[in-house]
Amino acid sequence: MQEKEFRQAGHYLVDFIADYLENVDKKPLFPDVQPAYLHELFDEPIPVHQLSLAQLQELLEEKLIPYCTHVNHPGYMGLITPSPNPAGILSDFLASALNQNLGAYSIGPAAVAMELRVIRWLNDLIGFDDKAGGNLTSGGMTANFIGLKLARDYTSHDRAQYDGMEKKWTAYVSEERHVSIDKAVDAVGIGRNNLRTLPTDDEFRIRIDALEKAIEKDKENGLQPICIIALAGTTNLGAVDDLHALHRIAEREACWMHVDAAYGGGMLLSAKQPDLLNGLSLADSVTIDPHKWFYAPLDAGAILVKDHRQLTKSFGLEPAYLTDQTDQKHDRYQFYVHGFEQSKRFRSLKVWSSFQHYGKNQIGEWIDGNVEQARYLHELATADDHFISATFPMMSATCIRYNAGELNDDQLRQLHHEVTTRIERGGQFWFATTSMKGKTWFRINPVNIHTTLAHMSNLFELLKQTCEEVLEEMTKQSLKFEV
Ligand SMILES: Cc1ncc(COP(=O)(O)O)c(C=O)c1O
Repeated sequence: MQEKEFRQAGHYLVDFIADYLENVDKKPLFPDVQPAYLHELFDEPIPVHQLSLAQLQELLEEKLIPYCTHVNHPGYMGLITPSPNPAGILSDFLASALNQNLGAYSIGPAAVAMELRVIRWLNDLIGFDDKAGGNLTSGGMTANFIGLKLARDYTSHDRAQYDGMEKKWTAYVSEERHVSIDKAVDAVGIGRNNLRTLPTDDEFRIRIDALEKAIEKDKENGLQPICIIALAGTTNLGAVDDLHALHRIAEREACWMHVDAAYGGGMLLSAKQPDLLNGLSLADSVTIDPHKWFYAPLDAGAILVKDHRQLTKSFGLEPAYLTDQTDQKHDRYQFYVHGFEQSKRFRSLKVWSSFQHYGKNQIGEWIDGNVEQARYLHELATADDHFISATFPMMSATCIRYNAGELNDDQLRQLHHEVTTRIERGGQFWFATTSMKGKTWFRINPVNIHTTLAHMSNLFELLKQTCEEVLEEMTKQSLKFEV
């Protein structure tokens, strides 16, 4: 072991990261480079010769750092990947060094206790009592998958684990769902064609009348509801479904209620809107991603389950090679018996450390700051005749669209995509586009500790200017065709 070299390279790396975080706003947010260039840059066989750690660092500074998307940059407002908090960054470094494997107690006793505590904290935030449990996961995708598997097993009276799906089942969710729900219904054997994706109201919440009609029709055709999936913070807009109404229906139909709060779960820490997710505790399972709006570095998702026993019924296999013979008192918690993963990263360390270092109030203030930034952008767009905002943002996700000139929907789609591409090239901001109710929108989501209101006004000015520029070019172009 090269202790001296490790120490030197490690000190250098920490300084490097500190400088990086301090100066990231001066870098172009997105690299101006073609994918083919990057493939060529990394096109090399497995190395045969050795590099020192200092040479390795040099190589990373040359080949990796200039071509990153700098999510720490205050102008990053794209797909939901917040700026990671520094306590979390250091914790991940330590987690790799300790390499505790939380699948089994014997490979990380304190780590297992810490993970159980983090799960308890998240359950406390939801309002689940001490019967609750959960797993930290790679993210919302895996958490939603586990939620849907629990639904399948519970509603089939714990037969589906053994017999597979004997009946025809259906699941229900709004059209604003994240694609992880489609993947999850596929993975647990419900089937994508048996997922009913229902229309939303003006505030982008599932329409209860449409849900009732869909259930009635399915039951007439011999299909049985297996799960109602509520969204508490849609990916596009942070919309929150009527959790109370959905719970009443799930209870009546004797099926599972899963809530996807992968992004919106952050609002549980908000001091300004503490009741926005009221009703979350009615769910049977909830997805919350600490690596989204708790500002933990990737990866840290969570599935929280009201009755911990359902996790055990769903996953509880104990092969001989994993059984812990030294567990004489049977008090060692084995995550592998109560979850899907076997080898399991020490994800809770960064979440635990973030709460210890900042406290939940500070994290809540960052969240409230992001909501304020979104609302400011909404106001700017609403005050401008050429922009439309989809709705008043409940959280940080905002969708606005440009609507000047005589362009049809297809031309407006092209305009939005071209504007987004130009702004990406400019390197000051990054955001996505999306489609809702047949229209194309700029989807702007500040989930960054470093973003301020000034960044939002600069962004809006740049958007206006770029939209006008592209509109003018498109108009000239179509006049040319008409001539
Ligand atoms: C509502 C919602 N659910 C699930 C996911 C998937 O989460 P992950 O990317 O952590 O797997 C996302 C991601 O943006 C999301 O917005």
